[in-house]
Amino acid sequence: MATPHFTERDPLAPGFWNERFEQQFTPWDQGGVPPELMRFVAQAPEPLTTLIPGCGLGYEVRHLAQAGWPVTAIDFSPAAVAMAQAALGEFAVHVQQADFFSFEPAQPVGFIYERAFLCAMPRARWSTIVAQWAALLVPGALLGGFFFYDEAPKGPPFGADRAALDALMLPYFALIEERPAAQSIAVFEGKEQWQLWQRR
Ligand SMILES: C[S@@+](CC[C@H](N)C(=O)[O-])C[C@H]1O[C@@H](n2cnc3c(N)ncnc32)[C@H](O)[C@@H]1O
Repeated sequence: MATPHFTERDPLAPGFWNERFEQQFTPWDQGGVPPELMRFVAQAPEPLTTLIPGCGLGYEVRHLAQAGWPVTAIDFSPAAVAMAQAALGEFAVHVQQADFFSFEPAQPVGFIYERAFLCAMPRARWSTIVAQWAALLVPGALLGGFFFYDEAPKGPPFGADRAALDALMLPYFALIEERPAAQSIAVFEGKEQWQLWQRR
């Protein structure tokens, strides 16, 4: 494979991600559906209307849709959306190009799935992300997925400091479940927690 060459350095810009997808340089991509999400879906009393922000290749879409969950996956990179749609076949309809910060769901969201979206963004952006999560979820609704704890100053991925992330999350959410990720790819190894947060 050719050596990747990037011109965009700002992870807040769609072009940053787009040129990485176009060159198939996706070191954050875990290539499948994590067991924690499978268990969450299997144990849920009823299907939840799900939003996946920054879905990348969106493997989880097929799993959720096959389980009968109404799912919408969004990404602002056209290349990511095209690749996800091509891979998802009949489930491509669940993926759309949209910016998380201005996205307005067609129906109320019961579950937001987080995977390598928060850590894709500089920490200065995190309060806006958390506020948008909160705005999208009614009281009692759930936010679940993987949170990366690491204090290296440079990213992406940008890791969290527990106290700092708690300070952002706890005004809106209660942490109702947490355990270390069962299967992490190298970049997140030993620093990734599965967490389930409930909107207050
Ligand atoms: C590190 S990747 C993670 C992709 C996927 N969740 C995964 O785990 O493989 C971050 C993704 O978020 C997308 N993204 C970043 N900012 C976004 C925004 N404002 N709106 C929608 N997608 C965004 C990027 O295009 C990229 O696909």
